[in-house]
Amino acid sequence: MRGLDGKVALCTGAGLEGGLGHGILERLGKAGCRLIVSDLEAVMTHSGAGNIKENAVVQDLALKGFETIGIACDVTNEQSVQAAVQATLAEWGRLDIVVNNAAIGDIIKPLPELSLSEWQRVMNVNLTGAFLLTREAAQVMTAGSSVINIASQAAKTGFRQMAPYVSSKHGMIGLTRTSAIDLAPLGIRVNAVCPNHVTTTMGKAQSEYFSSLRGMEPEAYRAQIADRVPLGRVGKPEDTASAVAFLASEDAAFITGEALNVSGGEETH
Ligand SMILES: NC(=O)c1ccc[n+]([C@@H]2O[C@H](COP(=O)([O-])OP(=O)(O)OC[C@H]3O[C@@H](n4cnc5c(N)ncnc54)[C@H](O)[C@@H]3O)[C@@H](O)[C@H]2O)c1
Repeated sequence: MRGLDGKVALCTGAGLEGGLGHGILERLGKAGCRLIVSDLEAVMTHSGAGNIKENAVVQDLALKGFETIGIACDVTNEQSVQAAVQATLAEWGRLDIVVNNAAIGDIIKPLPELSLSEWQRVMNVNLTGAFLLTREAAQVMTAGSSVINIASQAAKTGFRQMAPYVSSKHGMIGLTRTSAIDLAPLGIRVNAVCPNHVTTTMGKAQSEYFSSLRGMEPEAYRAQIADRVPLGRVGKPEDTASAVAFLASEDAAFITGEALNVSGGEETH
């Protein structure tokens, strides 16, 4: 991928091993980016402003030879988001790639049973969080920079008992399209990636819930998912990571406002 060497890339919700954020940062590291692992303070195990060394993802990426720091950030908190961008500038003086990856997907119940606070909690993390960081990053990013929103297959298709998650992810595509237009005059591109099931911490919890609804073992349920994917398997973090690296690179210089499926052919619109 052209144009990624030396760029500074920050990914939210990237503090859990084996998560999409971990895979995305590793791929960007291989392309020569300097990396910022960001997540909730509890996940980052805070050990000093702007440089959290204990987090397993920070350690893994640093061991692999990538220039990596950790920055705690709660994407629902405006001050925390502002502080994360400032800490990035203090460390490396620039911010080129923002990946809005943080999300929650654990509120799963029929719509009539949803409380307002459950709805708002999901919206705050999954959608408002991406808005806050995009707005903050746009103040400091220069032409050639890029924002990538990790949406979902649930950004294009409805799933039962997932109203807040599905709505937040559909909203993320709206945010992608509108911020792509508003930030284009600054030379900042904004795109989304839409993966289907990946067996991360979140993916595992969701597949456990839906398999138990069907009276199945989670492995059997995931095999059923793989069966309906034309390419015959579930997704891996590396699949989403490759799409992110492409969209962030100069090879995608004329692509903005796009929502790219990474689903082995399962999602077609
Ligand atoms: N796993 C899947 O099947 C799948 C499919 C499609 C899309 N996605 C999306 O991929 C992204 C990454 O999810 P994942 O599957 O790697 O799950 P994950 O649970 O590993 O990652 C989500 C991360 O978000 C963090 N987070 C939660 N609230 C936060 C907040 N307020 N501020 C900052 N961070 C916060 C969590 O601590 C966690 O590290 C999410 O946007 C998810 O919706 C996942």
